[in-house]
Amino acid sequence: MAKPKIQYVCSSCGAKAPQLIGRCPVCGEWGTYEEETTVETTTKRGVITRGAQPQRIHEVQAQEEMRIDMQSLELNRVLGGGLVPGSMVLLGGEPGIGKSTLALQVLMKMGEKRTLYASGEESAKQLKLRAERLSGSPDNLYIMAETSLERILDSVTELQPEVVVVDSIQTIGTEAIDASVGSLSQVKECAARILQYAKEKNVPFIIVGHINKEGSLAGPKVLEHIVDTVLQFEGDQHYVYRILRAQKNRFGSTSELGIFEMQQDGLREVTNPSELLLSNNREGLSGIAIAAAVEGVRPLLIEVQALVASAAYGTPQRSSTGFDARRLNMLLAVLEKRVGFKLLQKDVFVNIAGGLRVNDPAIDMAVLAAVLSSNMDIALDEQTCITGEVGLAGEIRPVNRIDQRIREAEKLGFKTIIVPRGQKYNTQNLNIQVIEISRVVDAFKFLFKK
Ligand code: TYD
Ligand code: MG
Repeated sequence: MAKPKIQYVCSSCGAKAPQLIGRCPVCGEWGTYEEETTVETTTKRGVITRGAQPQRIHEVQAQEEMRIDMQSLELNRVLGGGLVPGSMVLLGGEPGIGKSTLALQVLMKMGEKRTLYASGEESAKQLKLRAERLSGSPDNLYIMAETSLERILDSVTELQPEVVVVDSIQTIGTEAIDASVGSLSQVKECAARILQYAKEKNVPFIIVGHINKEGSLAGPKVLEHIVDTVLQFEGDQHYVYRILRAQKNRFGSTSELGIFEMQQDGLREVTNPSELLLSNNREGLSGIAIAAAVEGVRPLLIEVQALVASAAYGTPQRSSTGFDARRLNMLLAVLEKRVGFKLLQKDVFVNIAGGLRVNDPAIDMAVLAAVLSSNMDIALDEQTCITGEVGLAGEIRPVNRIDQRIREAEKLGFKTIIVPRGQKYNTQNLNIQVIEISRVVDAFKFLFKK
């Protein structure tokens, strides 16, 4: 038998070292190295076992992948049209965000299909209580509180479920290696074994994984390469909205996203996000601007709120929730230099309503409009929305998917939309006034009639 090899592995990024070191030279984390014992059992590289022959691409027989309908519009959408049999999906997110709720709820909705939910986190009783809270305990849903991978896979073989959830990869372990549960080597080994099982038996697995504070899957950075699909469940725990994004998908696009609302009795799908995200009584309030944003490929109208106040203490504060703080600083500098507003002595707070995190740079102009509105204490016209990225020269830059943004604004009854100048869009049957503007200073003049 091969000699066991001891090495040290960073639990955060997976880097290896021959001895125990305090700080990882790769990711810079402290105290993340763990001992890992491996026995080389795999065949040596270079040994070709299968004789694959090059083929002309048009000779390859390929059918559309079969899909399992997850009975959830939002989840199906993010998966690229349903779950592919034999695929392995990693569902990641911060603790408490609702991963277990989502996974259990999805299985409960699958009706007559037999499913298995294996949890290393909660007891069968807790799972039952949770299922009851989600109103139901269907016949074909099997649950199992287990931390041993072997026993879970045995049960899968016995039960032959159509979908298996393992919650979470950090709480299960295999007897094949001698490492503590949750360590990088356990996580990696379990994932590799599940993958092998999934491919051999054509059973799809949804694996739950926790995420560390930096937002990467704790330890399992390595997992992202193993699995077919990585879904990220995100949102602010203090708000009701949750977004499900595909970060990687071998069977679909990564630009789709699903939106859910966390309620007393579980997650509810949100099919008309814009209507929910806009508050009804914003008339006459200063510091609010509506951005026509696109997240993934979905148009969303988003309420941007800003508060500008005189700084009480020496250094003014700049803070933002749901919007990149560095980008806010840049936008304020543009405002200062290109539009001539003096905000140096002011505190500036920016917030995206609903607890969403927006990555679309096209909300820049709406952020500036909200800041200016609060600064002057003049409310913007509530029937106007804005889209446009702001450049360092104070210019409004083109945005992607402009037609979708305009149509969404029109659909929600907005009268006017500000867009970057010179972009082509479809004007047919358009029931909204489109104002093209090329510079921040002109947008300011238009919005405040100055
Ligand atoms: P959970 O699914 O346990 O999160 P995770 O598995 O990602 O750690 O859900 C956590 C939170 O969701 C918990 O604080 C309570 C809340 N919750 C609801 O608001 N409604 C519900 O129906 C359920 C089951 C949970
Ligand atoms: Mg959980």
